[in-house]
Amino acid sequence: MEFVRLLLVFLHLLGMALLVGMFLVQRRAPADAPLNPGWLHIAALQLITGLALQLLAPATDAEYNGMKLGIKTLVLLVIGGLALTYVIRRVPAPKWLPPSLVGLVVVNVGIAVFWT
Ligand code: HEM
Repeated sequence: MEFVRLLLVFLHLLGMALLVGMFLVQRRAPADAPLNPGWLHIAALQLITGLALQLLAPATDAEYNGMKLGIKTLVLLVIGGLALTYVIRRVPAPKWLPPSLVGLVVVNVGIAVFWT
């Protein structure tokens, strides 16, 4: 079971890196480009791996702070909600959107690391 936990943490950390990467990809896109759907897919990866880690905690002997994970989930739902809205609308991504999305990702990294 420890291998499963480590695999999920591995994917979870890769997802974090990919979300930051999406910001760089979006910056290189033309000004009138819509939001890259990658934001949405990677946000889903973060949600699935994070929830799986939490749900498997009894089996993996891990102990997590429920309040911390709840707040991380809320932040991620804002990221996913914004991404879904703009990917579906297919309008040019507003200038404020990519920095806001990556800012929320950084907030979640901060919560993950500093909230012990
Ligand atoms: C943008 C969204 C997210 C980012 C950037 C993120 C980032 C991180 C990072 C950097 C860690 C490693 C922290 C450390 O080892 O000290 C971590 C661990 C973890 N995250 Fe997330 N996270 C996100 C969303 C979520 C969500 C929605 C959940 C689920 C409720 C979640 C559950 C967990 C759990 C359970 C761990 C601990 C894994 C372990 O060491 O066993 N995360 N996250």
